[in-house]
Amino acid sequence: MSPQECVSDNRAMTIPAADRQPVLRIVPMPADTNAHGTIFGGWVMAQVDIAGSIPAWERAQGPVVTVAVNSFVFKEPVFVGDIVSFYARVLKVGRTSITVDVEVFAHRGRTGTKEVVKVTEAQLTYVAVDEHRQPRVVPDSAGGIKA
Ligand SMILES: CC(C)(COP(=O)(O)OP(=O)(O)OC[C@H]1O[C@@H](n2cnc3c(N)ncnc32)[C@H](O)[C@@H]1OP(=O)(O)O)[C@@H](O)C(=O)NCCC(=O)NCCS
Repeated sequence: MSPQECVSDNRAMTIPAADRQPVLRIVPMPADTNAHGTIFGGWVMAQVDIAGSIPAWERAQGPVVTVAVNSFVFKEPVFVGDIVSFYARVLKVGRTSITVDVEVFAHRGRTGTKEVVKVTEAQLTYVAVDEHRQPRVVPDSAGGIKA
């Protein structure tokens, strides 16, 4: 699953491996832009939070909440009309927490080319919670509870 490297317009870019599926794909709209006409960073952050929560929820076998954004790097701008794909994978499982890496790629749609650009990478930590919104132990992969 290691990303493939490609070169386009004299710039080295990382693209997702063909066998890797995004957890989320979305096309930003004009209402999502900032004062510069590119996509507002807060919009990207919200989608990243949702994307990261999906593998965390699956691994926790139930509800999770975001406790921390450990790192967040905007590498390239996102434009209206891009197809934005979010790839998320679990990096670490703690007692009640799950840390997820999210990579974001923009498929530039406006020019009719097939250019794919890595626009953002982030790491977030989620906590599995019970019905009282208190931390609960993450089950092991087989569904059991750690001692
Ligand atoms: C998440 C929350 C339930 C944790 O409650 P808490 O009493 O602080 O829980 P704990 O101190 O036992 O920490 C729980 C886990 O989070 C981890 N954690 C806490 N703060 C952290 C931080 N800043 N960065 C990374 N991990 C952190 C702890 O290490 C622990 O992980 P582990 O059990 O795997 O070792 C509580 O802080 C909360 O409700 N926060 C608001 C969540 C929210 O509204 N998010 C936004 C919307 S989803």
